[in-house]
Amino acid sequence: MIKTWPPDIGVKPYYADNQITIYHGDCRDILPKLPKVDLVLTDPPYGVGYRSNARLEKMDKIIGDDSVDIAVTGITMALAVLKNNRHIYVFGKIPLGGLPITEPVELIWDKTTPSKGNMSSTYGISHEYIQFSTYVPSQANRKRGDGRLATRLRRGSVLRYPRLNSRAVSNHPTEKPIPLLRELIESSSMLGETVLDPFVGAGSTLLAALLENRRCIGIEIEEKYCEIAANRCAAETVSRIRKGEY
Ligand SMILES: C[S@@+](CC[C@H](N)C(=O)[O-])C[C@H]1O[C@@H](n2cnc3c(N)ncnc32)[C@H](O)[C@@H]1O
Repeated sequence: MIKTWPPDIGVKPYYADNQITIYHGDCRDILPKLPKVDLVLTDPPYGVGYRSNARLEKMDKIIGDDSVDIAVTGITMALAVLKNNRHIYVFGKIPLGGLPITEPVELIWDKTTPSKGNMSSTYGISHEYIQFSTYVPSQANRKRGDGRLATRLRRGSVLRYPRLNSRAVSNHPTEKPIPLLRELIESSSMLGETVLDPFVGAGSTLLAALLENRRCIGIEIEEKYCEIAANRCAAETVSRIRKGEY
């Protein structure tokens, strides 16, 4: 459990409440200062402009989208603050070879309906990849099988959640559905634990963690997305306070 909240790292958070801390900045500067976390769940910038998504055509380009470097560096640095034998989920096909993790398992997010992008193709894309793995820093331990899940926890690798309706989103081109993120958080962490998303965008991971009664640290380089994420968290927090949940 992180002792002080928001974490005492000498960086002023953009937003903080009992469960959420958002830092505005480059995750490569902030990650080395963070305390250990219990789960990494992230949707990094890389090729998202090429993932089929009609919303992308109308919205701003994402920083770091044209090179894999920022994504890989951010993930590597996030692993350095993840506790041993804990889980990491990474949206997209980021190359994770050579990292101190167990062989990634490819999960499919089935969006249930095809995208409206590239209408000339016979197949409309209706899925996205999510890589799941466990952080096991020692190669010998990975070989021994540490980090493998008990078979009683086995389940199918297709997660079915409808894509977001473009009118219902918060103005971020790659916003993810909160129910999908809640399932990942619920499967891989416990109540009160801390989730980290170094590329938090409009804050969907933060909201999912809030609703699952976890803490969450989000980092975002673009101030406009920090503002959207903070407003979404504040609104949810206020509504939960009103309902007497705090
Ligand atoms: C694919 S989007 C995440 C969207 C998010 N999953 C959501 O539902 O809103 C990736 C985000 O990473 C941010 N980003 C890019 N480079 C970054 C960096 N070096 N540090 C922190 N954030 C960065 C981008 O501005 C973008 O908002």
